[in-house]
Amino acid sequence: MKALVLAGGKGTRLRPLTHTAAKQLVPVANRPILFYVLDNLAKAGITEVGIIIAPETQRAIREAVGDGSRWGFRLTEYIFQEEPLGLAHAVKVARPFLKDSPFVMYLGDNLIGGDIKNFREDFGNAGSDALILLKQVEDPSSFGVVEIDGTGRVLKLVEKPKEPKSDLALIGIYFFSPRVHRAIDEIRPSWRGELEITDAIQRLLDTGGRVSSVVLKNWWIDTGKKDDLLAANTVVLDEWISREISGSADKASQVIGRVALGKDSKIVGSTVRGPAVIGENVLVKDSFIGPFTSIGNGSQIVHSVIEHSVILEGVSIENVDRMEDSLVGNGAKIFKDRAARQGYRLLVGDDSVVEL
Ligand code: DAU
Repeated sequence: MKALVLAGGKGTRLRPLTHTAAKQLVPVANRPILFYVLDNLAKAGITEVGIIIAPETQRAIREAVGDGSRWGFRLTEYIFQEEPLGLAHAVKVARPFLKDSPFVMYLGDNLIGGDIKNFREDFGNAGSDALILLKQVEDPSSFGVVEIDGTGRVLKLVEKPKEPKSDLALIGIYFFSPRVHRAIDEIRPSWRGELEITDAIQRLLDTGGRVSSVVLKNWWIDTGKKDDLLAANTVVLDEWISREISGSADKASQVIGRVALGKDSKIVGSTVRGPAVIGENVLVKDSFIGPFTSIGNGSQIVHSVIEHSVILEGVSIENVDRMEDSLVGNGAKIFKDRAARQGYRLLVGDDSVVEL
């Protein structure tokens, strides 16, 4: 089985954070989301991986993933999609790579708890044309929505319906037999001008293809928006981070619980309460870093309180009484030089300067 990973698209929903990079590379617990996707493919024993890239994302994605040998992939092929014309369009562009192999398509901004190994096996055993993963959600209208009967048989799929007929959303992980290519050839672009994979799966059903489904028991997060990203950061820190101290803390500091502290980082006169991850070469001085916070390499936090936030690389934060639920882009500077309100909620892009 091959894998097709989607790391193209425009990433507009995380602007300004992804003006310059790819949204699939935004870090969760200091690792790009895409890396968790590749981990999951490797764990499922998949070694031939095609990665869809776009003009905006190609350089950053290639630099981050390289030849894929870190994951033990035998083949990593980059597939250029000139315009984000839809998930099914990406499959079309990838046809020369996929050939007639069954494959798993994995959206590069989807994170799930647990792995996909069992689903790969289920798909192999069922001999169906598609296996889709579903999850109950509160707001189904922003996803592909699926109706199933009491036995789990798929009845109907609709992409982002205004009036959803069920609360089961399509997770961005799909298993396909090569029969999906014919279905894709037979669909037309949707109202948003995209060739929808949801429509292709419906077409498979309409033409007698076998589509099976499974409802995911574990968590799933589509990290396209700020709050989703913070939620992803929280669950990943909560479930996957263990205590690992490479940097140093002085006598006046406390590093409590599951904290990963990277090399050459210094904690001075501060408290860090896990779960939290602090990258390499970070300075935390006279500050409190609260639970569920990730701080990227080369950042400096001085005389500040930060909780439940994602701070990217090379960020400087000074005299901020309390920052929470915030996402701060690379190279941003946030500082306060006079008394101001508390409880700021921020979404700050790369190289921004915020003076409070
Ligand atoms: O996350 C699950 C949802 O993903 C499903 O419930 C929907 O049925 C499915 O259509 C998709 O919806 P989104 O609107 O969230 O997809 P988005 O445009 O965000 O694209 C998903 C990923 O695929 C993202 O990493 C960018 C990449 N992409 C997207 C398009 C449209 C490409 O590589 N090429 C493309 O042409």
